[in-house]
Amino acid sequence: MGGIVDCTLAVVVKELETAAPLIPPRPTIPKLQAVAAECKACHLWKNATQTVFGEGKSTSPVMFIGEQPGDKEDLSGHPFVGPAGVLLDEALLEAGIDRTKVYVTNVVKHFKWEPRGKRRIHKKPNGAEIAACRPWLEAEIAVVKPRAIVCLGSTAAQSVISPKFRVSVQRAPFVESSLAPLVTATVHPSSILRAPTGQARREEMQRFIADLKTIWKAISA
Ligand code: URA
Ligand code: SF4
Repeated sequence: MGGIVDCTLAVVVKELETAAPLIPPRPTIPKLQAVAAECKACHLWKNATQTVFGEGKSTSPVMFIGEQPGDKEDLSGHPFVGPAGVLLDEALLEAGIDRTKVYVTNVVKHFKWEPRGKRRIHKKPNGAEIAACRPWLEAEIAVVKPRAIVCLGSTAAQSVISPKFRVSVQRAPFVESSLAPLVTATVHPSSILRAPTGQARREEMQRFIADLKTIWKAISA
């Protein structure tokens, strides 16, 4: 009898996937990086090469949050080193933002992809994967205590600011948040890469740089 009851319960109560139990006491960024390297809290680790944790000084006044590592990031183990990262670096430079003052991370730390021919195509993380990975992001924020958080793209904005947030409509607004004194969002650099024409791409890039300048001015005030 007891066996039947246990069995039913096991089906109903699906174990919640979360990295929360892995967060070490008194975390530092290097400690978090080391533990996250072994994270298997959700299934995304299985098809990825490695965990891509956030990088930057623990004293950075600004934290940029993207969606998840891409193909190049997955292979190298570093965030924003692929085409989107190159564009981000370019925009930061144009906006006069010192790259060494910036901490860069992602909402999800493993590359989610599906095969298309020989290529690995990025696939958006779902709510359960974002929730599972969230403790890592919260721990990074708790350690770095950035003065400003800048979400790049809708996955980050919707997960950090509000599920209804539209980066294409609301550009660089500062919103109330318990996460940091200044929290804002702009487009993801990869959306600029997807612009249909060279002209559109240049315009999108200029708007992105303008957003970064606005944000940096507010942070530096
Ligand atoms: N896109 C992201 O959101 N993050 C990365 O690290 C690279 C590309
Ligand atoms: Fe852990 Fe996040 Fe990777 Fe899932 S995506 S295994 S929660 S580090």
